[in-house]
Amino acid sequence: MARLSKGPIGIFDSGYGGLSVFKEIEKVLPDLDYIYLGDNARAPYGSRSFPTIYKYTWQSVKFLFDQGCNLVILACNTASAKALRNIQQINLKIEHPDKRVLGILRPTTEIIGEYSKTKSIGILGTSGTVSSNSYPIEISKFFPEIKVFQQACPMWVPLIENWAYNNEGAEFFIKKNVDSLSDQSAEIDTILLACTHYPIIEDQIKDNLPDEVQVITQGDIVAKSLVDYISRHEVLAKSFLRTGKRIFLTTGDVEDFNNHSEHFLGRKITSEQVDID
Ligand code: DGL
Repeated sequence: MARLSKGPIGIFDSGYGGLSVFKEIEKVLPDLDYIYLGDNARAPYGSRSFPTIYKYTWQSVKFLFDQGCNLVILACNTASAKALRNIQQINLKIEHPDKRVLGILRPTTEIIGEYSKTKSIGILGTSGTVSSNSYPIEISKFFPEIKVFQQACPMWVPLIENWAYNNEGAEFFIKKNVDSLSDQSAEIDTILLACTHYPIIEDQIKDNLPDEVQVITQGDIVAKSLVDYISRHEVLAKSFLRTGKRIFLTTGDVEDFNNHSEHFLGRKITSEQVDID
């Protein structure tokens, strides 16, 4: 890899969800510089077609490359499931061979099998993530003995993005989808929240499950895996700015983003609005 100009790490999600991953990344790698981009104006991605998710994700990644990022993390399962392969195998190879884009499916599927005693795992995700079948396919490579059950939850991200997840209507959809997953097998002892928006409703999800079923979120799994990745990629690691600076960008409304982000990140932030298409 040629010498790279120094830059921040880019973190991308369709909206707020990636902040649940970023929160854990900054705990383990606090000194690095980061730019977070939420494509809130076009969220949710989960029910969009493959070409649209790929187009929006690549536009967002290119935007982060233009801000100087040499590494971009897709902190979004939908984008990781639908767009990452094309970005890595086509766009990076041809246009940006020195840059790297990582998803969050791989670090999760490498480890998730270790959590289940009954060897039965439930996946809750967007329609895009579930229909891609990426989780069952990838988990079977690392844990062929594990049975994977999936349930799409198409209403959850719209409810979260619109800040409407704390009412009776939302409770109805949360219960409906959690029950549909539980009904698929009484053996499920581990449920992965395979959408980075879902940690914000983790308690509501747990309210619909027996205590012995554990609910796993991805933030700390992805953060640990990033530490390991950086330790194995010296040239890339040397290209990271290390002043502890954070920039938050949204394609949506700045006020909304500032107010809502606090719930994902646990602190107030100031964001800037950007157009990326
Ligand atoms: N946070 C994204 C994910 O992990 C949400 C996708 C969406 O915009 O629907 O899948």
